[in-house]
Amino acid sequence: MTTSKAPIINNLDEKAIEKLIYYATKAPSGHNTQPWQFKVRGSAIEIHPNFKYALPVVDPNHRELYISLGCATENLCVAATHFGFTTKWSIQEGANKVFFIQINLDKWQKAAEHPLFKNIEKRQTNRSVFDGQSISETIIEKLTNIRTENSIHSYFFKKGTRAFSTLQKYIFKGNSIQMRDKAFKNELINWIRFNKKEVNQLADGLSYEVMGSPAMPKFLGKLIVKSFLNPKTQNETDMEKIESSSHFVVLTTEFDTTREWILLGIYMERFLLNLTELGIANAYLNPPCELPNLAAELQKELPINEEIPTIIMRLGYAAAVPFSPRRAVSTDFK
Ligand SMILES: Cc1cc2nc3c(=O)[nH]c(=O)nc-3n(C[C@H](O)[C@H](O)[C@H](O)COP(=O)(O)O)c2cc1C
Repeated sequence: MTTSKAPIINNLDEKAIEKLIYYATKAPSGHNTQPWQFKVRGSAIEIHPNFKYALPVVDPNHRELYISLGCATENLCVAATHFGFTTKWSIQEGANKVFFIQINLDKWQKAAEHPLFKNIEKRQTNRSVFDGQSISETIIEKLTNIRTENSIHSYFFKKGTRAFSTLQKYIFKGNSIQMRDKAFKNELINWIRFNKKEVNQLADGLSYEVMGSPAMPKFLGKLIVKSFLNPKTQNETDMEKIESSSHFVVLTTEFDTTREWILLGIYMERFLLNLTELGIANAYLNPPCELPNLAAELQKELPINEEIPTIIMRLGYAAAVPFSPRRAVSTDFK
């Protein structure tokens, strides 16, 4: 925890601010890098990118990084509302065109029991094989009606439909490209935490438990993972996982701008908290969105109004899995 003198913003002391930030950090992020930085300025909490945790190979333009910042924003706002604040966020452009989010906290009022608050700590990415159960049309309609943000859209594709098969085909194509890319594989391996010691020390990345493998020494883990990271194994594993799922959901933006990536993240976290409430499991299968040539083809092939496919997830039902670690809250007070 980095602190200078603790400020009081609208009856919020340092402990209360850190509590809000703690909930923000429960947001998802690519490879669990947690690429955020929190600053307290006057009566606002700001969420800035922390490029130290960027993923230059899989996310060279920081699109997924900014999506994570959007997710953290939504968590922070839900938690602040729950603890009795009204929140107002805005997207700001700082020096060198680096965007950040400013969340103004106003009025201390009676705590307002946000209905999604309890799901912040329950939400998780679930990479297991699901149980094959279908999500009903009524529930899909409920999900379709979740409030979205300007120029962000969601599309649901049921197993057995043409669009579902198209997505499956592109996921396999994407896996095949990434699993032949040495730089991609090295970046991924660097974020895998192979045993409890590594997980406790770093509190980030993809832990062995989350990946569904046993703990082992790092040198051995690296050797084994390298042998698994190939197109054939990855596609066979994903085939079983996709077959066990009920739907794909594709989240899109209209213009592929930084502002929209943040908005998509805000919407996505709201969507994920609702999924958690409904007991629906989700896992990302994002390779086709991460590879520009495939994304451009998918944009035309899927019925998504030629918008930009940005996030692909499979949805279904499954037992909970171990949780991903988080680094301790670190805040810059001024
Ligand atoms: C923008 C974005 C893209 C992601 N893409 C993938 C992906 O392609 N495959 C995957 O297994 N997980 C993906 N994830 C999930 C993260 O690895 C996960 O959020 C992180 O490990 C933390 O775990 P948690 O979500 O259970 O808290 C993605 C997450 C985000 C925010």
